[in-house]
Amino acid sequence: MFAASRVFGAAQRRAFSASARDLSKVTVLGAAGGIGQPLSLLLKLNPRVTDLALYDIRGGPGVAADISHINTASKVTGYEPTPSGLDAALKGAEIVLIPAGVPRKPGMTRDDLFNTNASIVRDLAKAAAKSAPDANILVISNPVNSTVPIVAEIFKAAGVYNPKRLFGVTTLDVVRASRFVSEIKKTDPADENIVVVGGHSGVTIVPLFSQSSHPDLVGNANLLKRVQFGGDEVVQAKDGAGSATLSMAMAGARFAESLLKAKTQSGVIEPTFVDSPLYKDQGIDFFASKVELGPNGVEKIMDVGKITSEEQTLLDACLADLKKASCSEDSLPEHAH
Ligand code: NAI
Repeated sequence: MFAASRVFGAAQRRAFSASARDLSKVTVLGAAGGIGQPLSLLLKLNPRVTDLALYDIRGGPGVAADISHINTASKVTGYEPTPSGLDAALKGAEIVLIPAGVPRKPGMTRDDLFNTNASIVRDLAKAAAKSAPDANILVISNPVNSTVPIVAEIFKAAGVYNPKRLFGVTTLDVVRASRFVSEIKKTDPADENIVVVGGHSGVTIVPLFSQSSHPDLVGNANLLKRVQFGGDEVVQAKDGAGSATLSMAMAGARFAESLLKAKTQSGVIEPTFVDSPLYKDQGIDFFASKVELGPNGVEKIMDVGKITSEEQTLLDACLADLKKASCSEDSLPEHAH
């Protein structure tokens, strides 16, 4: 049986039990999907979440009814796409996670999802800009390299854009890299925390093994391929039934937990795809690097730091690809600019 005590310690639960100051509403848009359901489950097990709002174009109330029977304190509500459903799900949210959209099938790249997912994310962002303009928006829907800039444009158009509160969730790349390294080095994956910078697709995913305790892994082509194309392993294994859902749910829940923790703790750092000053001079507005989180969202964006010449080559390829992605912003769906 799942029990919050297995996931979160007693001290942590006590620390986050009562005070109104700690009330945290988290909304999931796309909550009935392959990612949405296990993500919602993990959020229900997080004692820092006091109010969980689950919205989907179909199945939100069903998932909410099911999850609401879990014996943790948070309130769970489900919403349908009625005229007021989406707005009610968003009102008062501190964190909005967006895993709504279609996943890949074998042979597809994340960019192949653009046409469908860009308009889904655009419409959800419009609703969020209206009903939860101050929330932290965590974009999971692919292609993240493009969906995050879309959300930014929608929030700008609505006059409520706060770059400190918009995040592309790249945590799964970090989770995968850490796991794959631990398999090679026979270490505990919980002790590995591989920094991954760039973006969230193929060559834009750049792991920096030189900054880990295993610098000898720089140049390990097989490992690099697994980190950059690990998503493909899952897409192929699922054989048409979708992409990573369970590991992504864990990664999304971890990122949400980090944001909630950072309200009261300093030094919480996660790599994430944000509006970043690092490569603006090269025409790249969004970039994933280590970000210190805080009560206002982004507290500090760190640069990539010292890397090897091999890693620099990977970074150059990443930047070229991200630059192409930002140049094609003209292809954003109608009204997304
Ligand atoms: P899924 O098809 O199982 O679930 C998507 C859900 O979104 C469905 O329940 C659907 O009804 C809902 N939905 C569609 N349009 C909606 C709208 N306008 N409003 C609210 N809900 C809507 O797909 P899955 O596997 O959960 O993947 C979701 C997205 O996450 C995909 O774009 C996928 O590529 C992406 N993804 C991102 C990862 C990352 O690392 N950032 C990793 C894995 C997947």
